[in-house]
Amino acid sequence: MIESAYIHIPFCTNICTYCDFCKMFYNKKMVNNYLLALEKEINSLYKNDILETIYIGGGTPSSFDIEDLNKLFIILRKLNKSDNIEYTIECNIENIDEEKLIFFKENGINRISIGIESFNEDILKFLGRKYTKKDIVEKMNIIKKYFDNINIDLIYAVPIQSIEILKEDLNNFIDLDIKHISTYSLIIEDNTKLKNDKIKYIDEDLDQEMYELIKETLKENNFIHYEISNFSKDTYQSKHNLNYWMNNNYYGFGLGASGFIDNKRYTNTRSINNYLLGKYILEEEYLDNEKNLENEIMLLLRTNIGLNKKELYNKYKIDIDTKYNIKEMIKDHLIEVLDNGNYIISKDKWYIENSILIYFIGGNTYGQN
Ligand SMILES: C[S@@+](CC[C@H](N)C(=O)[O-])C[C@H]1O[C@@H](n2cnc3c(N)ncnc32)[C@H](O)[C@@H]1O
Ligand code: SF4
Repeated sequence: MIESAYIHIPFCTNICTYCDFCKMFYNKKMVNNYLLALEKEINSLYKNDILETIYIGGGTPSSFDIEDLNKLFIILRKLNKSDNIEYTIECNIENIDEEKLIFFKENGINRISIGIESFNEDILKFLGRKYTKKDIVEKMNIIKKYFDNINIDLIYAVPIQSIEILKEDLNNFIDLDIKHISTYSLIIEDNTKLKNDKIKYIDEDLDQEMYELIKETLKENNFIHYEISNFSKDTYQSKHNLNYWMNNNYYGFGLGASGFIDNKRYTNTRSINNYLLGKYILEEEYLDNEKNLENEIMLLLRTNIGLNKKELYNKYKIDIDTKYNIKEMIKDHLIEVLDNGNYIISKDKWYIENSILIYFIGGNTYGQN
């Protein structure tokens, strides 16, 4: 049974200086053609599963006008939805408005994710985002009128950002009184304006200082740090993302989307021409037991759920204690044992998680290499 579906909307009304996601400029005719292809793709893959989470991401789904949204949601009506579904749509400040929010509400959306990134006007300009602090406050007030389950994205490690600016940003984010914050350390991707302009990364020590500041500040403000880059109040964790991190199956529909079904990970083409011709899939990878186990461990160790020895034994017939020399890792404070017996990466080592994950992949074992 597949419980989650991701739907990719690859259109934006503005292209940011740092973004290498699968996206193009909004164009109404192209949107029409795209939605026809999306419907065909869904029809060809979807097996009538009852979905617990749907995530409409992008690109910028809120770049659609009401007519486009109507077409999209007629297609999505075919997906069976659980009564408790988490149904998220990503929106951007510059093109979300009251009419679209009412439309979302009427069409079952119950979670909104907004890329705010920063309140600082120099940073917004550097990132190529086309709104101001005043716009953020105005739009967030309207969104909060209709939705309670909201995520906001914050970017840090921007080369012109100081610790002081980040502190100000964190205070502004906290003042919005939102239930979920996702944080992103800026990646300077190929094929972006930042890369072409030869912009360099900030110093790694500063990056870590920023990460620790975010962690501490959000903790002091009652956020639960439940995944390396994600923080939520109470029970507002993203069910959709938790499904990914628990290595469960999910559909990925749309240009450049990826999915995981029956031990097969697939990635769709980023070529709009191929997609419109029905050549959806670019590559597929079958994951054998060992690869699946590695993936599952890497995903779970990103979270505060961690590894459950018994569940992993039942699923993969391995004893993780002996396979990974976990007792030694506990002794050396790399791994921590939760009250329920699960293993997580020690809370003060989340920044260096990659250097710990190497002991769970490619046959490496802690203390033996
Ligand atoms: C791809 S966007 C899609 C949603 C929406 N269009 C937006 O801009 O918020 C999702 C998140 O990824 C972040 N992102 C994209 N490229 C990034 C990069 N190179 N480094 C860090 N974060 C990035 C965006 O800032 C945004 O918060
Ligand atoms: S960050 Fe969001 S709005 Fe900016 S180009 Fe990427 S997908 Fe579009």
